[in-house]
Amino acid sequence: MTIRKHLANLFHTAMQSAGIPETCLPHIVPGKKAAFGDYQANGAMAAAKVMGSQPRKLAQLIVDHLAPGDMIDTLEVAGPGFINIHLNNGWLGEQIAAFRRQPEQAIKTTAPQTIVLDYSSPNLAKEMHVGHLRSTIIGDALARILEKQGHHVIRQNHVGDWGTQFGMLLAELEDHLKEGETASLALSDLEAFYQQAKRHFDASADFAQKARDYVVKLQSGDDRLLALWAQFKATSFAHSQAIYEQLNVTLTERDVRGESAYNDDLATLVVRLKAQQLAVEDGGATVVFLEELADKEGNPSPVIVRKQGGGFLYATTDLAAIRYRNDVLQADRILYFIDARQSLHMQQVFTLARKAGLVKDTLSLEHHPFGTMMGGDGKPFKTRGGGTVKLADLLAEAVARAETLVRQKNTGLTEDEYREIGRKVGIGAIKYADLAKTRTHDYVFDWNAMLSFEGNTAPYLQYAYTRIRSIFRKAGVSPEAMNGAITLHHEDEKAIAIKLLQFPEVLEQVSVDAYPPQLCHYLYNLASDFMRFYENCPILKEGVRQEEKTSRLQLCDASAVTLKLGLELLGIETMEKM
Ligand code: ARG
Repeated sequence: MTIRKHLANLFHTAMQSAGIPETCLPHIVPGKKAAFGDYQANGAMAAAKVMGSQPRKLAQLIVDHLAPGDMIDTLEVAGPGFINIHLNNGWLGEQIAAFRRQPEQAIKTTAPQTIVLDYSSPNLAKEMHVGHLRSTIIGDALARILEKQGHHVIRQNHVGDWGTQFGMLLAELEDHLKEGETASLALSDLEAFYQQAKRHFDASADFAQKARDYVVKLQSGDDRLLALWAQFKATSFAHSQAIYEQLNVTLTERDVRGESAYNDDLATLVVRLKAQQLAVEDGGATVVFLEELADKEGNPSPVIVRKQGGGFLYATTDLAAIRYRNDVLQADRILYFIDARQSLHMQQVFTLARKAGLVKDTLSLEHHPFGTMMGGDGKPFKTRGGGTVKLADLLAEAVARAETLVRQKNTGLTEDEYREIGRKVGIGAIKYADLAKTRTHDYVFDWNAMLSFEGNTAPYLQYAYTRIRSIFRKAGVSPEAMNGAITLHHEDEKAIAIKLLQFPEVLEQVSVDAYPPQLCHYLYNLASDFMRFYENCPILKEGVRQEEKTSRLQLCDASAVTLKLGLELLGIETMEKM
């Protein structure tokens, strides 16, 4: 149980024995400064309002009814009715020792859910570009966190693998194969291949006609075209797979459930919407008008579910996907990590899914949007020539830049070590910069800021981790051999212990909000608190008592373990030295 929950239980009981209604909650928050308590209970103010009593008096009454046990040292009423809580050092020492032994146990949830995460989801007709970076990175961090907490996580890579452009692409691929090329050679540069097909399409009426025929044939289940399409998809997905591996992202082929998976459901879905009198015929198309999302003039928001001519749309597929996730995957929550520009689309899909009864009432549907990645010029991130930045190129540059920095910083490493550390730092920097940002804002991509060894960056945290590990190398002991009591005498020892024990609390919040910056800030503060502790509490100096040394080394180890685990949950690798 987290400290916060412990305290909440304790205070809630005390409040009730003080005659306060059960509905009044203790409102426990971490203290902002040690002088104001390690935690605060702020519930007396609201309770006093409900009861029409004096808040400070009520706070005192709560304190009088509280059985402090061995967890709390002292309590004091402060300000308008806060209760400052000072935790007991002995109790904290025992808690932190237990935490160090099993940090993964400490973060387990008591209420596991089935959670579907829709992320990355590139369009397979094209190469992955920077526009897919944020969804991939943020979604994967949440998948890792929720999984470690013990939730049943189901990743869904809703790739774009269907639609009219595939007619053109298959006609082009066929030509290449006829000339004896392999699919992987023809599609080695997807972007160029797409452009080539497009040029072909625009220049030749025959080719354009063939492309259109292929769409129809593909959609009616022609075996030959389906086989060609499968080949295209597999080759294209291999590109994404390579990026995932480079990025240390957990998605695999098994997580792919693309748009095409829902083809057979679309027609029946539209029939259903019509039968429910939600969808109506409008100028040849089938449309749902949602009053719930009406604009300022009161015009309902139109969602086209079937085009004139019979084609289905992005929204229709998303509705079918929601139904699948509800009925078959039995989701309790579905988290969508998609660009903020698709907010209206997601709102429409969610509203319609509920209205049509496609999902159970308790299912939580959550779009977690994020802004666009901007270049230094404040415009959407582009290459110098104005083209889309390919992810593969971006990652290669990150690794090269990081390797150069590591070489400048440390001259005593082997070639293999430089390469390995450069890779981890470069990839970590890109991921962390993205994860730490308030994601609703557009964010400016800045190499120097993300690769800095100071501030809230991956290199800073990776470096902090290696510094702690080097303490053990210097001491000539292994962390596993460290045992005995952890005793907290110095205020910085206490501060680091409390900070470490807050790790599960932070993760709980991150999983509710699906918001990684909270974890980033926590890790950054942890590293800073550690540096202060290390500065003020000598370990390897002459004259430090053995018990004190062992106790402090255990705090070092707990800090290292937590930093490593926290970074791992963000999908960022650590190393032993750098
Ligand atoms: N393929 C889409 C794109 O590249 C993203 C799909 C997001 N997921 C979803 N269920 N709509 O923009």
